[in-house]
Amino acid sequence: MSETVNILVINGPNLNMLGTREPEIYGAEMMADIEARCQAVCEGENVSLDWMQTNSEAEIVTAIHQAINKADWILINAAGLTHCSVPLRDALALFPGRKIEIHLSNIHKREPFRHHSMISAVVDGTVLGFGAMSYVMAVKGVIDMAREAE
Ligand code: DQA
Repeated sequence: MSETVNILVINGPNLNMLGTREPEIYGAEMMADIEARCQAVCEGENVSLDWMQTNSEAEIVTAIHQAINKADWILINAAGLTHCSVPLRDALALFPGRKIEIHLSNIHKREPFRHHSMISAVVDGTVLGFGAMSYVMAVKGVIDMAREAE
């Protein structure tokens, strides 16, 4: 890619506990391991990958505002906020860049309250159900699409 592709990965509540949090659902890898896998995918590519995790809905909304005109892509695992947050949906809707929703688990195979996503209708696409690989697939997808657009 000739121009740098700026990606912001946002992780929501409780994802800082990956590794010990319900590993039978979310896997044994820690958040830092998943970030390292994604950074490795970006090595040698003209990509800047910023990574954040917060347990605060307000911080996510502010991060999305601050990403305007800075990030080309937001990749977001909104965790539990996925299923309930109108403010998060509104923030993603106003972000002019592209957006991918990510989940480690297949939310559609789980409890009914997880089947609905407040944000799916305002993102470009979703990758879910592949554990840590959901993140890697999303990052690879962004890189492939940037290459194709050249
Ligand atoms: C999750 C799925 C959500 O339902 C849950 O609240 C999470 C993680 C996932 O990555 O599978 O915290 O977003």
